[in-house]
Amino acid sequence: MSNCCLEAIIGEQSSRPREQRTVVGEGDLTARRSRVDVASKDASLVSSPHRGDLELSGIDCDGGPLACQPVHSSDNLAKRRAVGDEGFVRDLHHKDGRCDRVGRQVDRQESLFQTLDETVHARDQQLVSCAHEVVDGGRRDLGQRCDLLDGQLRQRDGSQKFQGTVDDGVSPLCFVSFPKAGDDGKTHLRDHKLENTLILVLGTKRWVAMKHETQVRLIEELISRLDSGTNVDAGGFRRNPTSVYVDPDLAAKEWETFFRNHPQIVGLSGDLPEPGSFMTIDDFGVPIIASRDADGRFTAMVNACRHRGALVVEEERGTSRRFTCRFHNWTYDNGGALVGMPKREHFGAIDTNCHGLIRLPAVEKYGILWVHPQPDGVIDVDSLLTAELATELSSWNFGELQADGRMTFDVACNWKLAIDTFGETYHFPSLHQNTINLGFHGNVSGHEKFGRNHRFLLCRRGIDHVRTLPQEQWKLTEAATPAYWLFPNIQLITTDFGAFFIRVCPDPKNPARHTSKITIFFRPGTSERAEELDAHRELQRHLSQLFTDIIRDEDYVMSASQQVTANSGALTHIVFGRNELALHHYHNTYRAALGMESLPLLSDIDA
Ligand code: FES
Ligand SMILES: [Fe+2]
Repeated sequence: MSNCCLEAIIGEQSSRPREQRTVVGEGDLTARRSRVDVASKDASLVSSPHRGDLELSGIDCDGGPLACQPVHSSDNLAKRRAVGDEGFVRDLHHKDGRCDRVGRQVDRQESLFQTLDETVHARDQQLVSCAHEVVDGGRRDLGQRCDLLDGQLRQRDGSQKFQGTVDDGVSPLCFVSFPKAGDDGKTHLRDHKLENTLILVLGTKRWVAMKHETQVRLIEELISRLDSGTNVDAGGFRRNPTSVYVDPDLAAKEWETFFRNHPQIVGLSGDLPEPGSFMTIDDFGVPIIASRDADGRFTAMVNACRHRGALVVEEERGTSRRFTCRFHNWTYDNGGALVGMPKREHFGAIDTNCHGLIRLPAVEKYGILWVHPQPDGVIDVDSLLTAELATELSSWNFGELQADGRMTFDVACNWKLAIDTFGETYHFPSLHQNTINLGFHGNVSGHEKFGRNHRFLLCRRGIDHVRTLPQEQWKLTEAATPAYWLFPNIQLITTDFGAFFIRVCPDPKNPARHTSKITIFFRPGTSERAEELDAHRELQRHLSQLFTDIIRDEDYVMSASQQVTANSGALTHIVFGRNELALHHYHNTYRAALGMESLPLLSDIDA
């Protein structure tokens, strides 16, 4: 593959379907960065702008663009007062009428802000306020958020309306814009400016599950690293041979050991939301049907008809009480029992009890689905995770998450290079300078091992606000984003609104390729209010889109470039630094699992 091929990514898409597949690292080179297009489904954000206790009303986009932003605390309130934002707020009132029309072209701003502040604190929700003039006083007040937004708006095309999300690390901010029409009655790219933008900010009850003392410990560690200018420290360097990314013998060993003959996490409970739900999996050398039977029990079977071996289920997922092989119509129930075969008297008498689909070990625990690809395989979840991690994962209530979007990236890189990219934030200020780095402190992280697994913490810029609060109000998801690596190939990244679940699947025929299968999950418990919940769901979709675009257009492009040099043999080894601790752990973990020698810790790499 030529270098220029590295630049190419991915077919352009005018909108993102809820399931999509793209190829990274190959193909014609048209654009390195694909556009972030946002489906314009969110009319509700415009037509029904109720958020929490507060309602935006009397919005007049022509007469004066409005913007809304969350207010987090009295600290923020004080900042607003300091700005002296006269005329900044208008037309706010409480939805339930308790405080009807508390502000209008406000000369009573202080009491308004005070009321808002108290309301939100009482309900543990974010505030929404609105800015009449974003560009002048408002811009100063909105600070970094405005800059982020402005950057986003200027990058976009000239569609009539678009929506998106920016995240300055304090709170994600979801927006809808309405550019004014030009003299010719049309809208233009130049019209997509902050001052022409209506911004709706969605409230959230930040959801977090871990024991509070653990959250505090983890946040304190991050604060200490921030303050001392340090990061996690492996205590030395490790040299990793580049052959591990290309060696077909090693790839074959991994395939047999970690994939064909090892318990596999195939999804979260929300992948199979109801009795009869099923999905097919073909990532471990054995075609598999994972389903919920009529009683809702998680079941897995070999997807091979017991007549003459055709695939029984060809769809990727769906809901069905019966699976019928289309070759001769043998029919199985969704637990795998053979319940029908045509012309039985012609075919001959067989014991149907012995001709059900071959069952595979399947376990659903902590909201996670495990399957063993071998019928005689064993799944011992608690020993796979360790008791400590099992407790932590169980506290996240992954079982309540709902699947809300999927995508597949075929990437020209070894599966381990994909995992590598999730193991350090050293690259945030460089590779993600204009994306993730805006919301995270790069090169500050947390890392904790749990047997063959680990929890990696990405340090959100929201930690700067969290640390100003009393400790009892600290919430990990405001200060950090936990990313669990679950051996061998899962990245489970938790967010306020759900999770990103990534299965990194090797290509058994080609060590230089892999497929990343990503499912976006939404947490329906973020609010009891239907409207607010809808808003949260939309926000999670926006965040998901940004997240997956960044993985595809930034991280995996680097992974594919690393693969090019690995393929060439130009380097015998690469180096993991002291601050890339998760990579030390990950590589030595799979090496140990394969009976390979550990990569030694080196204090000096010049030697
Ligand atoms: S192979 Fe399935 S019914 Fe014959
Ligand atoms: Fe990255």
